[in-house]
Amino acid sequence: MTTQNATPRIGEHFLATPTDLGTDATRDISAGLAGLLADVFALYLKTKNFHWHMSGPNFRDYHLMLDDQGDQIFAMTDVIAERARKIGGNTIRSISDIAARQRLLDNNADYVDPQDMLAELQRDNKQLVAEMRRVHELCDSYSDVATASLLENWIDETERRSWFLFEACRPTRGL
Ligand SMILES: [Fe+2]
Repeated sequence: MTTQNATPRIGEHFLATPTDLGTDATRDISAGLAGLLADVFALYLKTKNFHWHMSGPNFRDYHLMLDDQGDQIFAMTDVIAERARKIGGNTIRSISDIAARQRLLDNNADYVDPQDMLAELQRDNKQLVAEMRRVHELCDSYSDVATASLLENWIDETERRSWFLFEACRPTRGL
């Protein structure tokens, strides 16, 4: 005998927020967002790492620039995670979950030259843009315009960070 209004089982289906997007869209977009969230946390911590361990004659400028960038990067995290939940998907659960998913590499070196810090962050932001574009294409294929719209703003912000980092570590000429 079947029972209507049965209590949902605790597990994946219990967290399946209703959406018209379909199970394939929920699965694929949530996985894409989880990868992005792992990269964003990795980039946030590296940006703060270099903010904390900055040195040299440009200390104040670089220290403050990386603090601004860290705030901007961290502001993405909750929105990415909640976007996955809004469409019935799951998201990152722990530091070990981040480590398993991140594509951007950590830097645990004792000392990093300031120019190398900026160049590395510039490459990381550029890579993050490429990962965001891939998730944007996925969203387009499922008509998930809301996630695509968020990504468009984040791509612009990430390209701005990349621009500032590129200009700040450009070698001086003729001086
Ligand atoms: Fe600080």
